[in-house]
Order: sequence, then C-alpha cells, then structure tokens
Amino acid sequence: MASPAAIERDNALFVIGISAAIFVVVASLVIYAIVKYRVRGKPDGAEPTQVYGSLELELAWTVIPILIVFIIMGVSSRIVFSVENASQPPETTHLTLIGHQWWWEIRYPGSNVVTANEIHVPIGDKSAKRATYLDLRSADVIHSFWVPQLAGKVDLIPNRANQIWIDPRQAGIYLGNCAEYCGTQHAKMLLRVFAEPKQDFENWLAAQSKPAVKDPAVVQDRAVFESLACVNCHFIEGTIAHGRFGPDLTHLMSRTTIASGVLPLDEKNLRAWVDDPQQIKSGCLMPSFKLDKPELDHVVAYLLTLH
Ligand code: CUA
Repeated sequence: MASPAAIERDNALFVIGISAAIFVVVASLVIYAIVKYRVRGKPDGAEPTQVYGSLELELAWTVIPILIVFIIMGVSSRIVFSVENASQPPETTHLTLIGHQWWWEIRYPGSNVVTANEIHVPIGDKSAKRATYLDLRSADVIHSFWVPQLAGKVDLIPNRANQIWIDPRQAGIYLGNCAEYCGTQHAKMLLRVFAEPKQDFENWLAAQSKPAVKDPAVVQDRAVFESLACVNCHFIEGTIAHGRFGPDLTHLMSRTTIASGVLPLDEKNLRAWVDDPQQIKSGCLMPSFKLDKPELDHVVAYLLTLH
C-alpha cells in the first residue's frame, strides 16, 4: 500500500481535477453567453425574453452537483478507511509522541529511550516494508501532529490516544509543526522526522538507550548542575536529575536543534537558552533562573558533554 501522504495527495488531485473541470465548464458558458448575447448596434432598451421554470435546467443543476458530491464523498471515505485499516508490515516501529506546551516528547516503548522534538524512524527498502505507528497523546492542551510530506494532520488530545502511521521511503529530514493553536508559542513547536536506513536507526536507538556520558573532565560542572533547580524538570539517566516536566537531556547533544526546532543546537544558543529562555520563546514554561556567570559556565560546560 502506498504511504498515507501519497494516497491523500492523489485524493486531493482528484478533487482539484473535478473542481477544475467544473470551473472550465462554468467559465466557458459564461464567456460564451457574454460574447454571444452582448448588446450590439443600437439598443432599443427592450428587456430580453424572460424564461421561467425550466424543469430540465433545474433538474440538471440539482442532480449533477449531488452526484459529484457523492462521488467525492465516496472516494474520500474509502481512502480514510483504507489508511486507518491498513495492515501493519511485520517490521513496524512503535513510538509515543506526547505534545507539551511547546515541545514534543518522544518515547520508544520497549526501551528506555526518551527524546524530544526529533523523531528517528527507519525507512523501508527492497528487503522489507517498514512503517512507524505513532501513539499520539497530550500532556496539557490539544496539539496537532503534521508532517505534510508523510501524512495528514492528527490531533493530540488530553486523555485520549490517537494514532497515525508513516512510512517514509527515502532517507532524509522531514519537517513538520504543530497544526492546532495551543498557546503563545504554538508557532515555535517544530518537529523534525529523521528517516534513516534500518541500521542507522538501530545504531541511533542503541546509543540513545545508554546512560548519560560521564566525562571526568566535567565532574565539577556536573555537581553544579545537580545542585540547581534544573533537576526538578529535566531527566538525565544516571544522575539525580529525574524531572519529567521538560525535555529529557540524557543525549541532548545528539539533537540538532534546541527549543523545539527553533534554534540550531550549539554552544552559543544553548548558553542563551539556559540564561533566559524567555528571550527566545517568551511564555515558555522554563523561567530564567538568573544564574550568575560561573554557574552558567558550569551548566553549559556539562550539558555540552551529553552526546
Ligand atoms: Cu502545539 Cu500548537
């Protein structure tokens, strides 16, 4: 079966095709009438003959549009059902995507892997079809998953599990964003899907399931980090940071962006973020802790080692 995005694109083209045909017919008739029945020569001011109650015409413009609506409805519902009831290929990856104000939490069930904003999935190839099923949930308000190249939109609703599946065929990064207004920083709730060959995906997953790097060079920096309030909201496997309110930082530096895709993840942006997230995403739920310069140095030095 083709991917959801491809099926939905074909359906959209079908509907656009019908609409375009209607437009061409109507516009041609209008142009024909304008040209053929325009007033020529010297008008005598008399009204043209008025026609009332043509049964044939009225039947035609009632029945034909109804038929067109039913055809479009039938084709679209068949597509909706075929996408929802598609059989899962044997190699199916499952993951849970949780919307938060304003970032995405990603969990891979069956492992301890928790990450944020960047979804890794394996692509299918000649040896096997592969799909990824996403279990969509929300921690607070309604968000919406939308990666246009991979599938249509599905909402993430509190106290409800929705599902969607994707099966990218080409390796690459697919961009998406939250498609349901969810508060101040809705526009900065970006999503990246990294579709990669199976082996790369498995290597990534294996690396993500390891505890955080313990770089002896940053023992002191780590101690400072652990003494601050950061640990109440963030999780770092193998440390006292056990918060689940904010993004998991165990492998922070394996991600390419920070603040839900808003900025490239580098030392400068990381520092600016830790210093005062409100300057970058005003209203976001992480306050500025007003760290002094040495504290900021320590925290950033430690975070930079979390590959
Ligand atoms: Cu989340 Cu809009």
